[in-house]
Amino acid sequence: MKRPKRVTIAEMGPRDGLQNEPAIVATATKIAFIDLLSESGLPIIEATSFVSPKAIPQLADGSEVYAAIAKRPGIRYPVLVPNMRGYERARAVDVREIAVFTAASERFTERNIRMSIAESIATFREVVRNAKADGLRVRGYVSTAFGSPFGDEVRPQKVVEVAVALLDLGCDELSIGDTIGVGVPSQVEELVPLLADRIPLEQLAMHFHDTRGTALANVYAALGCGISIFDSSCGGLGGCPYAPGATGNLGTEDLLYLLASMGIETGVDLQRVRAASRFIARELGHALTSKAFTAMEAHDALLSG
Ligand code: COA
Ligand code: ZN
Repeated sequence: MKRPKRVTIAEMGPRDGLQNEPAIVATATKIAFIDLLSESGLPIIEATSFVSPKAIPQLADGSEVYAAIAKRPGIRYPVLVPNMRGYERARAVDVREIAVFTAASERFTERNIRMSIAESIATFREVVRNAKADGLRVRGYVSTAFGSPFGDEVRPQKVVEVAVALLDLGCDELSIGDTIGVGVPSQVEELVPLLADRIPLEQLAMHFHDTRGTALANVYAALGCGISIFDSSCGGLGGCPYAPGATGNLGTEDLLYLLASMGIETGVDLQRVRAASRFIARELGHALTSKAFTAMEAHDALLSG
Protein backbone atom coordinates (compact mmCIF):
# COMPACT_ATOMS: atom_id res chain seq x y z
CA MET A 1 0.00 0.00 0.00
CA LYS A 2 1.40 3.38 -1.00
CA ARG A 3 1.12 6.29 1.38
CA PRO A 4 -1.24 9.03 0.14
CA LYS A 5 0.35 12.17 -1.38
CA ARG A 6 -2.33 14.40 0.02
CA VAL A 7 -4.15 14.35 3.37
CA THR A 8 -7.39 16.03 4.46
CA ILE A 9 -7.37 17.37 8.01
CA ALA A 10 -10.56 17.73 10.05
CA GLU A 11 -10.06 20.31 12.81
CA MET A 12 -11.71 19.33 16.11
CA GLY A 13 -10.60 22.20 18.38
CA PRO A 14 -13.84 24.20 18.55
CA ARG A 15 -15.90 21.09 19.41
CA ASP A 16 -13.85 18.17 20.81
CA GLY A 17 -11.46 20.75 22.24
CA LEU A 18 -13.70 23.32 23.87
CA GLN A 19 -16.24 20.78 25.19
CA ASN A 20 -13.52 19.47 27.46
CA GLU A 21 -12.46 22.81 28.92
CA PRO A 22 -13.63 23.29 32.50
CA ALA A 23 -14.36 26.97 31.85
CA ILE A 24 -17.11 28.00 29.48
CA VAL A 25 -15.64 30.07 26.66
CA ALA A 26 -17.53 33.21 25.61
CA THR A 27 -19.55 32.93 22.42
CA ALA A 28 -17.67 35.80 20.76
CA THR A 29 -14.37 34.08 21.53
CA LYS A 30 -15.53 30.84 19.93
CA ILE A 31 -16.60 32.72 16.82
CA ALA A 32 -13.27 34.56 16.56
CA PHE A 33 -11.41 31.27 17.10
CA ILE A 34 -13.28 29.48 14.30
CA ASP A 35 -12.82 32.47 11.97
CA LEU A 36 -9.05 32.34 12.60
CA LEU A 37 -9.04 28.60 11.83
CA SER A 38 -10.96 29.26 8.61
CA GLU A 39 -8.11 31.52 7.45
CA SER A 40 -5.63 28.64 7.64
CA GLY A 41 -7.07 26.62 4.77
CA LEU A 42 -8.27 23.75 6.98
CA PRO A 43 -10.89 22.01 4.80
CA ILE A 44 -13.07 20.70 7.67
CA ILE A 45 -13.70 22.54 10.94
CA GLU A 46 -16.09 20.90 13.39
CA ALA A 47 -17.78 24.02 14.68
CA THR A 48 -19.87 22.98 17.68
CA SER A 49 -22.44 20.47 18.84
CA PHE A 50 -26.21 20.44 19.24
CA VAL A 51 -26.32 18.00 22.14
CA SER A 52 -28.16 18.44 25.42
CA PRO A 53 -26.86 21.56 27.20
CA LYS A 54 -27.14 19.57 30.42
CA ALA A 55 -24.67 17.04 29.03
CA ILE A 56 -22.24 19.61 27.57
CA PRO A 57 -22.87 23.12 28.94
CA GLN A 58 -19.65 24.30 27.26
CA LEU A 59 -21.35 24.18 23.85
CA ALA A 60 -24.86 25.29 24.79
CA ASP A 61 -24.45 28.31 22.48
CA GLY A 62 -24.06 26.18 19.34
CA SER A 63 -26.81 28.01 17.46
CA GLU A 64 -25.32 31.46 18.05
CA VAL A 65 -21.82 30.26 17.19
CA TYR A 66 -22.83 28.51 14.00
CA ALA A 67 -24.98 31.40 12.80
CA ALA A 68 -22.20 33.95 13.31
CA ILE A 69 -19.06 32.25 11.97
CA ALA A 70 -17.82 33.27 8.54
CA LYS A 71 -18.53 30.24 6.34
CA ARG A 72 -15.82 30.19 3.75
CA PRO A 73 -16.65 28.54 0.42
CA GLY A 74 -15.01 25.14 0.20
CA ILE A 75 -14.75 24.64 3.97
CA ARG A 76 -17.02 22.11 5.66
CA TYR A 77 -18.32 23.02 9.12
CA PRO A 78 -19.89 19.86 10.58
CA VAL A 79 -21.72 19.95 13.91
CA LEU A 80 -22.31 17.06 16.30
CA VAL A 81 -25.95 15.93 16.55
CA PRO A 82 -27.17 13.18 18.96
CA ASN A 83 -30.88 12.99 18.13
CA MET A 84 -33.76 14.61 16.21
CA ARG A 85 -33.92 17.47 18.70
CA GLY A 86 -30.31 18.31 17.85
CA TYR A 87 -31.01 17.90 14.15
CA GLU A 88 -33.85 20.40 14.29
CA ARG A 89 -31.65 22.89 16.11
CA ALA A 90 -28.94 22.42 13.47
CA ARG A 91 -31.40 22.88 10.61
CA ALA A 92 -32.74 26.07 12.17
CA VAL A 93 -29.36 27.70 11.55
CA ASP A 94 -28.95 26.10 8.12
CA VAL A 95 -26.14 23.67 8.94
CA ARG A 96 -24.83 21.89 5.82
CA GLU A 97 -23.14 18.91 7.47
CA ILE A 98 -23.84 16.97 10.66
CA ALA A 99 -21.90 14.33 12.55
CA VAL A 100 -23.60 11.50 14.41
CA PHE A 101 -21.68 9.57 17.03
CA THR A 102 -21.71 6.20 18.65
CA ALA A 103 -18.99 3.90 19.92
CA ALA A 104 -17.63 0.38 19.84
CA SER A 105 -17.90 0.05 23.63
CA GLU A 106 -21.37 -0.56 25.12
CA ARG A 107 -20.44 0.92 28.49
CA PHE A 108 -19.02 4.08 26.95
CA THR A 109 -22.09 4.56 24.74
CA GLU A 110 -24.36 4.13 27.75
CA ARG A 111 -22.46 6.80 29.72
CA ASN A 112 -21.97 9.19 26.84
CA ILE A 113 -25.39 9.22 25.21
CA ARG A 114 -27.50 7.05 27.55
CA MET A 115 -28.30 4.52 24.86
CA SER A 116 -27.08 1.08 23.85
CA ILE A 117 -25.12 0.95 20.59
CA ALA A 118 -28.17 -0.60 18.89
CA GLU A 119 -30.43 2.16 20.23
CA SER A 120 -28.01 4.81 19.02
CA ILE A 121 -28.02 3.36 15.51
CA ALA A 122 -31.83 3.30 15.58
CA THR A 123 -31.87 6.96 16.72
CA PHE A 124 -29.46 7.99 13.97
CA ARG A 125 -31.48 6.16 11.30
CA GLU A 126 -34.11 8.88 11.45
CA VAL A 127 -31.55 11.67 11.82
CA VAL A 128 -29.52 10.54 8.81
CA ARG A 129 -32.64 9.89 6.71
CA ASN A 130 -33.75 13.47 7.32
CA ALA A 131 -30.28 14.86 6.71
CA LYS A 132 -29.92 13.05 3.38
CA ALA A 133 -33.44 14.13 2.32
CA ASP A 134 -32.43 17.72 3.14
CA GLY A 135 -29.25 17.40 1.07
CA LEU A 136 -26.80 17.47 4.01
CA ARG A 137 -23.53 15.66 4.29
CA VAL A 138 -23.13 13.26 7.23
CA ARG A 139 -20.06 12.20 9.16
CA GLY A 140 -20.29 9.24 11.52
CA TYR A 141 -18.04 8.70 14.53
CA VAL A 142 -17.13 5.37 16.07
CA SER A 143 -15.55 6.27 19.43
CA THR A 144 -13.48 4.05 21.74
CA ALA A 145 -12.34 1.96 18.76
CA PHE A 146 -9.09 0.98 20.47
CA GLY A 147 -10.23 0.66 24.05
CA SER A 148 -12.86 1.72 26.55
CA PRO A 149 -12.35 3.81 29.68
CA PHE A 150 -14.65 1.42 31.52
CA GLY A 151 -12.62 -1.74 31.10
CA ASP A 152 -14.85 -3.58 28.64
CA GLU A 153 -12.94 -5.17 25.81
CA VAL A 154 -13.28 -3.60 22.34
CA ARG A 155 -12.79 -6.13 19.54
CA PRO A 156 -11.81 -4.93 16.05
CA GLN A 157 -14.77 -6.87 14.62
CA LYS A 158 -17.10 -4.80 16.77
CA VAL A 159 -15.59 -1.57 15.40
CA VAL A 160 -16.15 -2.84 11.85
CA GLU A 161 -19.72 -3.86 12.66
CA VAL A 162 -20.59 -0.43 14.10
CA ALA A 163 -18.83 1.41 11.26
CA VAL A 164 -20.68 -0.62 8.62
CA ALA A 165 -23.98 0.02 10.41
CA LEU A 166 -23.29 3.79 10.22
CA LEU A 167 -22.28 3.51 6.56
CA ASP A 168 -25.51 1.60 5.83
CA LEU A 169 -27.51 4.43 7.40
CA GLY A 170 -26.08 6.73 4.73
CA CYS A 171 -23.04 8.34 6.37
CA ASP A 172 -20.69 9.82 3.77
CA GLU A 173 -17.57 9.60 5.90
CA LEU A 174 -16.68 7.63 9.01
CA SER A 175 -14.22 8.73 11.65
CA ILE A 176 -12.78 5.96 13.77
CA GLY A 177 -11.77 7.34 17.16
CA ASP A 178 -9.24 6.41 19.79
CA THR A 179 -11.20 8.45 22.32
CA ILE A 180 -8.98 7.65 25.28
CA GLY A 181 -5.66 7.55 23.43
CA VAL A 182 -4.65 3.96 24.20
CA GLY A 183 -4.12 2.62 20.67
CA VAL A 184 -0.79 1.56 19.21
CA PRO A 185 0.34 1.13 15.57
CA SER A 186 -0.01 -2.66 15.57
CA GLN A 187 -3.70 -2.22 16.42
CA VAL A 188 -4.07 0.32 13.61
CA GLU A 189 -2.47 -2.11 11.19
CA GLU A 190 -4.90 -4.81 12.30
CA LEU A 191 -8.04 -2.66 12.28
CA VAL A 192 -7.69 -0.53 9.14
CA PRO A 193 -7.47 -3.43 6.66
CA LEU A 194 -10.55 -5.02 8.31
CA LEU A 195 -12.42 -1.73 7.86
CA ALA A 196 -11.13 -1.30 4.31
CA ASP A 197 -12.55 -4.72 3.37
CA ARG A 198 -16.03 -3.28 3.92
CA ILE A 199 -15.68 0.49 3.54
CA PRO A 200 -13.99 2.50 0.76
CA LEU A 201 -10.72 3.95 2.09
CA GLU A 202 -11.60 7.45 0.89
CA GLN A 203 -14.59 7.42 3.26
CA LEU A 204 -12.49 6.53 6.31
CA ALA A 205 -10.92 9.03 8.71
CA MET A 206 -8.88 8.28 11.82
CA HIS A 207 -9.26 10.29 15.03
CA PHE A 208 -6.40 9.82 17.47
CA HIS A 209 -5.91 11.25 20.92
CA ASP A 210 -2.36 11.68 22.18
CA THR A 211 -3.06 10.77 25.79
CA ARG A 212 -0.19 8.29 25.94
CA GLY A 213 1.96 9.81 23.21
CA THR A 214 1.05 7.28 20.51
CA ALA A 215 -1.04 9.46 18.20
CA LEU A 216 1.60 10.32 15.57
CA ALA A 217 2.89 6.74 15.51
CA ASN A 218 -0.71 5.70 14.83
CA VAL A 219 -1.02 8.30 12.06
CA TYR A 220 2.12 6.92 10.44
CA ALA A 221 0.72 3.38 10.61
CA ALA A 222 -2.64 4.54 9.21
CA LEU A 223 -0.93 6.40 6.33
CA GLY A 224 0.80 3.15 5.46
CA CYS A 225 -2.63 1.49 5.31
CA GLY A 226 -3.82 4.17 2.85
CA ILE A 227 -5.81 6.41 5.21
CA SER A 228 -5.87 10.02 3.95
CA ILE A 229 -8.24 11.81 6.36
CA PHE A 230 -7.19 12.64 9.92
CA ASP A 231 -8.91 14.47 12.75
CA SER A 232 -6.78 16.69 14.97
CA SER A 233 -7.14 19.67 17.23
CA CYS A 234 -5.10 22.86 17.14
CA GLY A 235 -2.73 23.12 20.06
CA GLY A 236 -3.83 19.63 21.11
CA LEU A 237 -7.01 20.94 22.73
CA GLY A 238 -9.54 18.42 23.73
CA GLY A 239 -10.74 15.18 25.10
CA CYS A 240 -14.10 13.83 26.04
CA PRO A 241 -15.86 14.60 29.31
CA TYR A 242 -17.26 11.05 29.45
CA ALA A 243 -13.86 9.44 29.00
CA PRO A 244 -11.86 10.13 32.17
CA GLY A 245 -8.27 11.01 31.37
CA ALA A 246 -8.90 11.41 27.64
CA THR A 247 -6.92 14.61 27.53
CA GLY A 248 -5.55 15.84 24.30
CA ASN A 249 -6.53 15.27 20.72
CA LEU A 250 -3.57 14.90 18.44
CA GLY A 251 -2.35 18.47 17.89
CA THR A 252 -2.99 19.85 14.42
CA GLU A 253 0.49 21.42 14.50
CA ASP A 254 2.07 18.03 15.30
CA LEU A 255 0.17 16.41 12.44
CA LEU A 256 1.07 19.24 10.04
CA TYR A 257 4.72 19.10 11.02
CA LEU A 258 4.87 15.37 10.35
CA LEU A 259 2.99 15.53 7.05
CA ALA A 260 4.79 18.57 5.66
CA SER A 261 8.19 17.13 6.59
CA MET A 262 7.28 13.88 4.84
CA GLY A 263 6.27 15.80 1.69
CA ILE A 264 2.55 15.05 2.09
CA GLU A 265 0.32 17.97 1.06
CA THR A 266 -2.54 19.31 3.16
CA GLY A 267 -3.17 22.81 1.80
CA VAL A 268 -3.10 24.08 5.40
CA ASP A 269 -1.01 27.05 6.53
CA LEU A 270 0.74 25.99 9.72
CA GLN A 271 1.49 29.58 10.76
CA ARG A 272 -2.19 30.47 10.66
CA VAL A 273 -3.12 27.40 12.69
CA ARG A 274 -0.54 28.51 15.24
CA ALA A 275 -2.14 31.95 15.33
CA ALA A 276 -5.50 30.34 16.17
CA SER A 277 -3.87 28.21 18.90
CA ARG A 278 -2.10 31.25 20.36
CA PHE A 279 -5.40 33.13 20.44
CA ILE A 280 -7.31 30.35 22.22
CA ALA A 281 -4.46 29.66 24.66
CA ARG A 282 -4.56 33.31 25.71
CA GLU A 283 -8.34 33.19 26.14
CA LEU A 284 -8.24 29.92 28.10
CA GLY A 285 -5.38 31.15 30.24
CA HIS A 286 -3.35 27.95 30.11
CA ALA A 287 -0.65 26.34 28.01
CA LEU A 288 -1.55 23.95 25.20
CA THR A 289 -0.23 20.41 24.92
CA SER A 290 0.80 20.16 21.25
CA LYS A 291 4.52 19.47 21.18
CA ALA A 292 5.11 21.05 17.77
CA PHE A 293 3.16 24.17 18.75
CA THR A 294 5.08 24.50 22.02
CA ALA A 295 8.44 23.98 20.30
CA MET A 296 7.73 26.49 17.54
CA GLU A 297 6.52 29.12 20.00
CA ALA A 298 9.68 28.67 22.08
CA HIS A 299 11.87 28.80 19.00
CA ASP A 300 10.27 32.03 17.78
CA ALA A 301 10.53 33.60 21.23
CA LEU A 302 14.24 32.78 21.25
CA LEU A 303 14.79 34.35 17.82
CA SER A 304 12.83 37.48 18.65
CA GLY A 305 14.17 37.76 22.20
N1 COA B 1 -30.43 19.66 22.23
C1 COA B 1 -30.93 20.33 23.29
N2 COA B 1 -31.53 19.75 24.32
C2 COA B 1 -31.67 18.40 24.28
C3 COA B 1 -31.21 17.64 23.19
C4 COA B 1 -30.56 18.32 22.15
N3 COA B 1 -30.06 17.68 21.11
N4 COA B 1 -31.49 16.36 23.43
C5 COA B 1 -32.13 16.30 24.60
N5 COA B 1 -32.23 17.54 25.12
C6 COA B 1 -32.82 17.92 26.41
C7 COA B 1 -34.23 17.44 26.54
O1 COA B 1 -35.12 18.41 26.04
C8 COA B 1 -34.37 17.26 28.04
O2 COA B 1 -34.52 18.54 28.65
P1 COA B 1 -35.46 18.73 29.94
O3 COA B 1 -34.82 17.91 31.03
O4 COA B 1 -35.39 20.20 30.19
O5 COA B 1 -36.78 18.21 29.54
C9 COA B 1 -33.02 16.76 28.45
O6 COA B 1 -32.12 17.23 27.43
C10 COA B 1 -32.94 15.24 28.53
O7 COA B 1 -33.44 14.69 27.32
P2 COA B 1 -33.49 13.12 27.02
O8 COA B 1 -34.06 12.93 25.66
O9 COA B 1 -34.12 12.39 28.18
O10 COA B 1 -31.98 12.79 26.91
P3 COA B 1 -31.03 11.96 27.87
O11 COA B 1 -30.98 12.57 29.21
O12 COA B 1 -31.37 10.53 27.75
O13 COA B 1 -29.62 12.26 27.15
C11 COA B 1 -28.54 12.79 25.06
C12 COA B 1 -29.37 11.79 25.85
C13 COA B 1 -27.98 12.05 23.86
C14 COA B 1 -29.42 13.94 24.61
C15 COA B 1 -27.40 13.36 25.94
O14 COA B 1 -26.80 12.33 26.67
C16 COA B 1 -26.37 14.10 25.16
O15 COA B 1 -26.64 15.15 24.59
N6 COA B 1 -25.13 13.58 25.10
C17 COA B 1 -24.07 14.18 24.34
C18 COA B 1 -22.75 13.91 24.99
C19 COA B 1 -21.63 14.49 24.15
O16 COA B 1 -21.77 15.42 23.38
N7 COA B 1 -20.46 13.92 24.32
C20 COA B 1 -19.34 14.41 23.63
C21 COA B 1 -18.95 13.57 22.50
S1 COA B 1 -17.58 12.54 22.99
ZN1 ZN C 1 -11.98 12.92 20.23
